[in-house]
Amino acid sequence: MSNQFGNFVIGDTATANSLPILKGSIGPDAVDVRSLLDKQGLLTYDPGFRSTASCQSAITYIDGDKGTLLYRGYPIEQLAEHCSFDEVAHLLMHGELPSAEELAGFRKDIRDHNLLHDQVLSFYRGFRRDAHPMAVMVGVVGALSAFYQDAQDYSKDADQQKAAIRLVAKMPAIAAASFTYSIGRPIRHPDNSFDYSSNFLQMMFGKPSEPYIVDPVLTRAIELILILHADHEQNASTSTVRMAASSGANPFACLSAGIATLWGPAHGGANEAVLTMLEEIGSPENIPNIIKRAKDKNDPFRLMGFGHRVYKNYDPRAAIIRDITRKTLAHLGMENSPLMATALELERIALSDEYFINKKLYPNVDFYSGILLRAMGFPSRMFTAVFAVARTVGWVSHWLELKQEGHGIDRPRQLYTGPAQRQFERK
Ligand code: ACO
Repeated sequence: MSNQFGNFVIGDTATANSLPILKGSIGPDAVDVRSLLDKQGLLTYDPGFRSTASCQSAITYIDGDKGTLLYRGYPIEQLAEHCSFDEVAHLLMHGELPSAEELAGFRKDIRDHNLLHDQVLSFYRGFRRDAHPMAVMVGVVGALSAFYQDAQDYSKDADQQKAAIRLVAKMPAIAAASFTYSIGRPIRHPDNSFDYSSNFLQMMFGKPSEPYIVDPVLTRAIELILILHADHEQNASTSTVRMAASSGANPFACLSAGIATLWGPAHGGANEAVLTMLEEIGSPENIPNIIKRAKDKNDPFRLMGFGHRVYKNYDPRAAIIRDITRKTLAHLGMENSPLMATALELERIALSDEYFINKKLYPNVDFYSGILLRAMGFPSRMFTAVFAVARTVGWVSHWLELKQEGHGIDRPRQLYTGPAQRQFERK
C-alpha cells in the first residue's frame, strides 16, 4: 500500500479541502481525490487518463522520460538477456523469478492446460476463413467462459490460479488455430516435447505431413517478442481487463474484452500499420515526402511506430527488437531487406528532425516488430494476435492482483455537457 506523505490543498481559503498525497515506491506521487466529490462537490476531469492513477499496482513500472521499463523491479533489458518467456511469466504473475523447482512446476501446469477442448475447436468452423485473427480470438476466448465449471469460484485463490494458467497455456493454441484455420490447414495441437515459444511456432507453421524442426534463432526471436510485450502497466487493454474484472466478470470474458481493445490501430494494431507504411514508402529516397506528410497539420497521417503516450524517450523495447531483427534477418539471409533499410533510414531522419525532437517522438516497440514477424513468416494480420499471446501474461497478472486485493466495481463519473432537464414536447 502507498503511504500518505503530504497534502494537496484545493479551493479558496473558505472551502479549502486538504487532500492526501500518496507516495508509491518510485515514480510520481498521486493526489488522493477520493473524498473530493463528497467534501467539495467537485469531480476531477482527465479524459484519456493522462494524469490519473486508476489503481495501485506492484507489477510493472515505466519511466517514460528516462525510457525505463521494469517488470517487478527488474529492467526489461536484463530479463530479455537472461530469461525464458515462462520465467518472465512466472515473475509477472507471482511477483518473483522462479527457482528451478518452481519453474518446473509452472511449466508442468502450462503443459497440463495447453490443449483446447474439442468443442472449442468446433467454434472455428463457424468463422469465415477470411476473418481477422483478432476477431476470431475475441470470440473464442470469450467462449471459454462457458467452460471450466469445475473451477469457477473466483473468490478462491485455487480457481484464480487455474484460470490464469489456463489462459496463458491456451492462448498460443488459440492464436495459431486462428491462422491455420484461415489458410485451410488442419489445426495443430500443442506438443509437450517443445517449450512454450517453440510450441507456438510449431502450431503456427508446422505441417501435418512432416515433423517440425526447431530453429533456435527463430525460437529466441519469438521468445523476445513475447517477453517485451508481456506487460506495460495500465495501457488501454489492461485497463479494460481490470475494469471488466472489477464487476466480478468471468476472467475469460475479461480477457476477451482486453483482446478487443488491443486490436485497435492506436494500440496493438500499430505494427501491422508500420509494415503497410514501410511498404508504401518502398525505398529510402521516398522518406522525405513521408516525413513532410507526418509534420503537416492538415494531413491526418502519422508516422506509425513513432510516439508513445508514456515514453518521451527511446522505447527500451524498440532497441532490443531492432537488435534481434538485425540478427534474425542475417540468420535468414535477409540482411539486405528493403523494409529494414527503409525503417533504419526513416528512424535516422526522423530522430534528426526538429519536429520529432521537440515533440519527443521516438520509435516505439511496434516500429521493428512487424519486420521481424514478417521475416519469420507471420502474415501481418497475425501480428496483433502474437501481441495478444504475450500480453495475456500481463492481463492475467493484473487480474490476479485485482482479485487478490478485493477491488470494488470501477465507476468513472463524467462532466455532463448535454441539455439540462427539460419538459417533454412532441415536435
Ligand atoms: N507522427 C507524427 N506526429 C505525431 C505522432 C506521429 N507518430 N505521434 C504524435 N504526434 C504529434 C501529434 O500530432 C501531436 O502534435 P501537436 O501537439 O502539434 O498537436 C503531438 O505529437 C502529441 O500527440 P498526441 O496524439 O497528443 O500524443 P499521444 O501521447 O496521445 O499519442 C500515440 C501517442 C497514439 C502512440 C501517437 O504517438 C501515435 O498515434 N503514434 C502512431 C501510432 C503508433 O505507433 N501506436 C503504437 C503505440 S505503442 C503500443 O500501443 C504498443
